[in-house]
Amino acid sequence: MKIAIGCDHVGIEQKDLVIKHLESKGIEIEDFGTHSTERTDYPKYGLAVANAVANQQADLGILICGTGVGISLTANKVKGIRAVVCSDPYTAALSKEHNNTNILAFGSRVVGIELAKMIIDSWLGAEFEGGRHQGRIDMIAAIEEA
Ligand code: RB5
Repeated sequence: MKIAIGCDHVGIEQKDLVIKHLESKGIEIEDFGTHSTERTDYPKYGLAVANAVANQQADLGILICGTGVGISLTANKVKGIRAVVCSDPYTAALSKEHNNTNILAFGSRVVGIELAKMIIDSWLGAEFEGGRHQGRIDMIAAIEEA
C-alpha cells in the first residue's frame, strides 16, 4: 500500500504527523509537499497527488489544507479521481464503501490531529462494496467522457 500525500502551508504540521502515523502502520508514503510553512497555493499539491493516484503511482491519496475544500476541489478535476472532504470517520468509511473514493481530504483548521487519524483509519479500513454502487460510479465516470 502506497499513499501519496500533499498539503498547503496551512496543513503542513498535520501532514508531518499523518505521515508518522501511516509509516508506523507500515504504509509507504510519497510526499508531494509542501515542505515549509511559507505561503503557497493548494492547487499545486492537489494536482500532484491527484495525478499520482490517477497514474497509479500511488494506491490512494491524502490531502490537507485549511478546510480541505480547495485542495479536494482541485483533485476532483483530474479524470478518475473521487476525492472526499470530510471531518468525521463515518463519512470517511461510507465514502469508500459506496463512492469508492481514492483521495481523502480534510481541513487542519477543522479537525484536530487525533480526529484526523480516526478519519484516516476509518477510511483505510473500509472497502468498496461494488454492486449497485458501481453503476453510480460509472455514471460519474461518464460525465468525464461527455
Ligand atoms: C489558505 O489560506 C486556505 O484558503 C486554504 O488552506 C484552504 O482552506 C482552501 O480551501
